Amino acid sequence: MTTDPATPLAVDQFIVGLQPALPDDIVAARARSEAAGLPAIGVSSEQGRFLSLLVAATGARRVLEVGTLGGVSALWMARSLPEAGQVHTIEVEPAHARIAQENFSASPHGARCVLHLDEAAKALARWVAQGVAPFDLAFIDADKKNNVRYAELALALARPGSLIVVDNVIRSGRIIDVACTDENTQGARDVLSWMGSHPRLALAVLQTVGEKGYDGFAVARVQA
Ligand code: DHB
Ligand code: MG
Repeated sequence: MTTDPATPLAVDQFIVGLQPALPDDIVAARARSEAAGLPAIGVSSEQGRFLSLLVAATGARRVLEVGTLGGVSALWMARSLPEAGQVHTIEVEPAHARIAQENFSASPHGARCVLHLDEAAKALARWVAQGVAPFDLAFIDADKKNNVRYAELALALARPGSLIVVDNVIRSGRIIDVACTDENTQGARDVLSWMGSHPRLALAVLQTVGEKGYDGFAVARVQA
């Protein structure tokens, strides 16, 4: 099958158009992120809706996010949380964190977003050592070379039944190109093989197309 590269983007726009208008806080957060010059690598609208749906479907109360960027994905997840729920989201880049905090402050769901300006591996290791309450869902969407480290720490912070979701695991199919050794592709390969062979993880990998090109999500459920 060949697909005109323009088609997935047009279909994504069509799908967005047949649904209710995007939430005001999401539109505003995307606009503020773009105006501030943040990289245009955040989740698409449908990916955001999918994350929101996962939080609702699992009844998650404590969500972990590695890689906040402008906070758009955190807001998508926060809007499905119960009143007392929280998204703990970690960002290492101060310029990104500043915009994310502005986006949270401007959103009716932002009070449930707790931003941690830190190196994710350090913050997560500290939380493991402190024995914080487990997270119900983790979304890993940061520097890809540390994917496995983040997934290991997310598993250490999970409970049986928790979900671990990793973004960007297909990279336009480059994961099967042995000549492609860039750290983003290698990070995707490494986390897929780690998750795929882990005895405590039941994994499904979904290839995706659309506004974000050809990529994919890894979704794993933590077993007992
Ligand atoms: C990149 C990172 C992302 O998280 C993403 O969703 C798309 C692209 C990148 O660094 O290229
Ligand atoms: Mg991503």
